[in-house]
Amino acid sequence: MGVKHVPNDIGRLWWERALQNLAGGVDSPVRAGVPVGEPTPFLVRGRGSRVWDIVGREYIDYLCAYGPVLLGHADPRVTEAVARAMCDGPVFGATHPEEVRLAERLRGLFASMELVRLVSTGTEACMGAIRVARGYTRRERIIRCEGCYHGHSDAMIFGAGASSLSEAAISCGVTRGVAGEVDVVPYNDLPSLELVLRERGRHTAAVILEPVVGNMGLCLPEAGYLAGVRELCRKYGVLLIFDEVITGLRAGPGGAQAVVGVTPDVTCLGKALGGGLPIAAFGGRKDVMSVLAPAGPVFAGGTFSGNPVCVAAAHAVLDAIAATEDFYPRLEATARRLARGLADVLARRGLPYPVVQFASMVDFMFRPGPGHRTMREARQADAHAYAAYYRAMLNHGVLLPPSQMELMFVTAAHTDEDIDATLGAADEALTHAAR
Ligand SMILES: Cc1ncc(COP(=O)(O)O)c(C=O)c1O
Repeated sequence: MGVKHVPNDIGRLWWERALQNLAGGVDSPVRAGVPVGEPTPFLVRGRGSRVWDIVGREYIDYLCAYGPVLLGHADPRVTEAVARAMCDGPVFGATHPEEVRLAERLRGLFASMELVRLVSTGTEACMGAIRVARGYTRRERIIRCEGCYHGHSDAMIFGAGASSLSEAAISCGVTRGVAGEVDVVPYNDLPSLELVLRERGRHTAAVILEPVVGNMGLCLPEAGYLAGVRELCRKYGVLLIFDEVITGLRAGPGGAQAVVGVTPDVTCLGKALGGGLPIAAFGGRKDVMSVLAPAGPVFAGGTFSGNPVCVAAAHAVLDAIAATEDFYPRLEATARRLARGLADVLARRGLPYPVVQFASMVDFMFRPGPGHRTMREARQADAHAYAAYYRAMLNHGVLLPPSQMELMFVTAAHTDEDIDATLGAADEALTHAAR
C-alpha cells in the first residue's frame, strides 16, 4: 500500500515478453489498458480484498476480474471444494450428480429458469440463449441494446459495450450477413425498441439485454423501462433474454430480475457463479428450453460443460452465501459506504460527477450531469481525466478497471477499513484527474 506505481524493469520486461508471445500482449483486450495508457499490472496473487503484482506491490482490488470475485480472492471454501473435486477427477464426459443438484439450486433461486443448461463462459451462455430463442420462435432476427455486452460471438460483438467498443468490429471478422440479422437500439429507449418491433417484430426471435448494465460503466434502467420491454416482447411474441452474467449472483440471490420484479423468458448467468472458475448457465421457460437437443432440434454442448470442478466451485459459492447471515445486505452496505464516500469526495472537490451504485457495483464517470442512460451519453465521459485518476489510484495502492466502460466491484471480503483507505486515495487522486 502507498508504494509508488512507477513502471519498473520487471513489469516492462514481462510486458515485452507478453507482446512477443501473446497476440496484442494479452488474452483479453481490456487487460492491455489502452484507455489508461498502460497494461494492468501483472498480478500473481490474491487474498480477500487484496491482490499483489509481480514485484510484490499490494492493491485493494475493485477490478475483481470484472465481476467473478464475489466472496473475495482465494476464498478457502472454494479452493478446498475445488481441490476435492480435482482429486476425484476433473472431467468425465458423463453427467455428474452434482450437476443435477446445481441445476436444482439455480431453479430454486431464479423463478425464470425452469430448465437449465450449464456451459463454461458467459459468451457461451448468451450464444446458447440466442440459438434457443431462434429455434423456439423459428425466427432469425435479434434485438440488442447499444452498450450492453453479451460476449464475443459474431452476432453480439458490434455496437456492444465494455472493451469490445470498436467502430471496426462490424467490418472486421463479422460478416454483413450476421450483422444484418441484428438490430441495435439504445438502452432505456422504449420508443426506439417499439419502432423496430413494429417493423420487424414478426421476424424477431428475441430481445437480449442486461437488466442493469455493467458494460458502459454502471447504467441503471429507468423506472418502467424493463417492464415496458417485457410488455413489448409479449405483444410481438418475442422472447426476452436477461443477460445476468454480471448481476446474477451479485444483485441478490435471484439476480436483478428479482430486484426489479420483471421475469424474462430466458436468463444467462456466469462470472460470480464459479467463484473464479469458468462456469456459466442459461435457463428459461420449460417449453422454450425443451428445443435443446436431445429433447429438441437445437444443438448446444461442450466438453467441459458441467465439469465437476467448476460445479463444485459453484456449490461452494452458493453454500458460502447461504451460510453467511445477511450476506447481501452486508455486501450492499459496504458498497453504499464506498458510493457515499466517493460522492462526498467529489462534492468536496466541486466535481459534478454522479456516483451510481447497484448492489455491490459502484461507479462514477467523468461526465457531469445526471447518471448516463445510454451508451451515447457514456461516451461523453472525459477519457483523459479517467486515465489520470486510474494511474493516481494505482500509485495509492488501489486497483481500478483500466477503462471507464467497466466499473468497481465490491466483494464480501472488502472491509470498512478498505473502503476508508480507498476514499483517502480517491481524495488525493482526484486532484490529478481534476488537473
Ligand atoms: C453481461 C455480460 N455478458 C456476457 C459476458 C461474457 O462472459 P465471458 O467473458 O465469461 O464469456 C460478459 C463478460 O464480461 C458480460 O459482462
